[in-house]
Amino acid sequence: MNSKELQQARKYEETYGGKIREEERPLFHVSPKVGWLNDPNGFSYYKGEYHLFYQYHPYDTNWGPMHWGHVTTKDFIKWNWLPAVMAPDEDYDYAGCFSGSAVELPDGRHCLMYTGVTEWKDEEDRKIIRQHQCMAYGNGLDYEKYEGNPVITGADLPEGASLEDFRDPKIWYDKEENCYYSVVGSRPADGSGSILLYRSEDTEKWEFVTVLDSCKNQYGLMWECPDFFPLDGYYIALTSPQSMRARGMEFHNGNGNIYLIGSYDKKNHEFKRSEVRAIDYGLDFYAPQTVETPDGRRIMIGWMQSWESSKIQPQGAKWFGMMTLPRELSVKDGKLIQTPVRELENYLSDPVIYRDVDVEDCIQLPDVKGRAVDLEVTVRPSGTEMYQKFTIKVAMDSENYTAISYNPANSVLKIDRTNSGFRNDIICVRKLHVRSRNGVLKMRIIMDRNSIEIFVNDGEQTVTSTIYTPVSADRISFESVGMAIVDVMKRDIVIE
Ligand code: FRU
Repeated sequence: MNSKELQQARKYEETYGGKIREEERPLFHVSPKVGWLNDPNGFSYYKGEYHLFYQYHPYDTNWGPMHWGHVTTKDFIKWNWLPAVMAPDEDYDYAGCFSGSAVELPDGRHCLMYTGVTEWKDEEDRKIIRQHQCMAYGNGLDYEKYEGNPVITGADLPEGASLEDFRDPKIWYDKEENCYYSVVGSRPADGSGSILLYRSEDTEKWEFVTVLDSCKNQYGLMWECPDFFPLDGYYIALTSPQSMRARGMEFHNGNGNIYLIGSYDKKNHEFKRSEVRAIDYGLDFYAPQTVETPDGRRIMIGWMQSWESSKIQPQGAKWFGMMTLPRELSVKDGKLIQTPVRELENYLSDPVIYRDVDVEDCIQLPDVKGRAVDLEVTVRPSGTEMYQKFTIKVAMDSENYTAISYNPANSVLKIDRTNSGFRNDIICVRKLHVRSRNGVLKMRIIMDRNSIEIFVNDGEQTVTSTIYTPVSADRISFESVGMAIVDVMKRDIVIE
């Protein structure tokens, strides 16, 4: 039996979600049925489909008491909305059903693990927050919260860990041991972040196993939304640290995103990381989560937004927040590689191809334009002379554009959305070091109306940003200081 809070949310999204015009939304990226969306939750394969839930506040385009919204897909490109599955309606989660994950149980139930939040004022009017881990079980449409909630509480934390910052469980099933594990973000006594590992036989009773890794004040403070999985002979942990300090071009201030790559001694639960790097170098990427597909691929999806600019919204829209394109992960030379999910190929049409085009000054190529496109560009020097700067402008009209420019001398790539139409003083520029290859740079740029995702050098790095430029601004130009040569392939992304 659904609570009155959930019934109300379902009624609201049904009434108002249907009123949003399709053209206002992204074509193939997940957006909320109505209202606000943040983190991806419960990304899982269940009964022949992928399920994705999301942090959801249906009643407003700003963050508020967290519900879980729900979408499904068979191919990561075409998504269907289903009714919301959870509302904050219990004494252990009335202040929010925060982020979490999902797994299928042997008895066929779909199991959700999430953070329940409670909040109150003490005698001195100070806000007290408590976070603990909870379960819900369902059939892919309706879910019941577990009567034994919460299943992991402050009593199960290592000594000194914060009771307020303890959230975002990522559950998985371990075939060899026939048990469940979950990683949870926490804040140890040193005030920075850590990833805790818990184990359960049945998803109801949990025991603390170990601190899998901790920040020691090196990479921001609280580590939100951890994930942990094997990939190509390595183990990878993903997390989104709050309050990071900028470090060169690798990390920026504020909420960031990092992956920790290393090895894992499963028997002794010892993770030894060898490197820590940014997952995405763009302006809008946070809280990614992965799923393993039946054919063994590890697919990641993230929230395509930054917290810092999340109050800057298109006027009049009744929804806000999008997910990234799901990305296939792999490891090459010890580094994480991301490529657009291969199912996208099924929706690419009308290729327009140019080879060996000389670019000096600014050119536009016939039929290379659009706002829902897959654009592959390889730039290289002409002869022995190195060009000085190569720029692609996208989403362009007489007033607007977003510039992606490359300087081969220092191998720095820059995205600049200063002129994309924002009228607020938000951060618009991000720079990253890319691998220097004698002036050769390869980029695959996926645009979906209000977003740009750049896959650099076959996915060695990615750069993700939202742009709220009018969709009629669809021109693309190429510009070089000093002669450069480009190959270009543009395909339209068409969803029927
Ligand atoms: C990350 C996050 C999570 C939390 C959720 C609340 O973006 O802060 O840590 O569970 O959002 O909506």
